[in-house]
Amino acid sequence: MDGNGRWAKRRHLPRAMGHQRGVEAVRKLVRSLKDTGVECLTLYAFSSENWKRPGEEVDDLMNLMRKFIKSDLPEFVANDVQLRIIGDWQGLAPDIVEMLEDALEQTSKGSRLLAVALNYGSQQEIVRAAAKAAADGEVTEQAIAAHLDTADLPPLDLLIRTSGEVRLSNFLLWQSAYAEMMFVDTLWPDFTPEHLQRALAEFEGRDRRYGGR
Ligand code: IPE
Ligand code: MG
Repeated sequence: MDGNGRWAKRRHLPRAMGHQRGVEAVRKLVRSLKDTGVECLTLYAFSSENWKRPGEEVDDLMNLMRKFIKSDLPEFVANDVQLRIIGDWQGLAPDIVEMLEDALEQTSKGSRLLAVALNYGSQQEIVRAAAKAAADGEVTEQAIAAHLDTADLPPLDLLIRTSGEVRLSNFLLWQSAYAEMMFVDTLWPDFTPEHLQRALAEFEGRDRRYGGR
């Protein structure tokens, strides 16, 4: 979810406003999931590298997270959403960890998966998984995959990056081995359910060969 800052800058608004509109884009997208065949939507909300941002912006993002969980949890439950979290989320502030634990529990029966990457870095995730596999005495592709944070999620089919940047920025590196990639110029706050529908239609037309032919 990239481009919140630029969205705000173009309107001469504070960055925090861009993040706020980014949250609204998330809310609309999650509401639209029932109209799609998407089994699992994974959102890259906060990376392990985002701590490098000014303290004030990190605080804004954390406060938005608190507000969002509080305001939208009942809607998640009502809309059959099951929350999952990937990344080192236990390293967030204790009150957020507590809110997330509660949200995970309250949504545990939902059938539509919403995975949120929080304090997530793919390289760190792979190292953790490889170390666990090694401790079990078996370093294979299957063993590493089984220890990734995404082990219980369906395979990654489509990865969309917004805002015109063409890089993965430490997101789902292992999982994207054969994922279809889309890089769109739309800034995240402008990314609507229609944009997702269009991306899904394009995905349908892709010929996936997984190295075969
Ligand atoms: C959102 O967009 C990313 C988050 C960490 C939530 P940015 O804040 O990276 O926006 P740009 O790249 O400055 O436009
Ligand atoms: Mg950015």
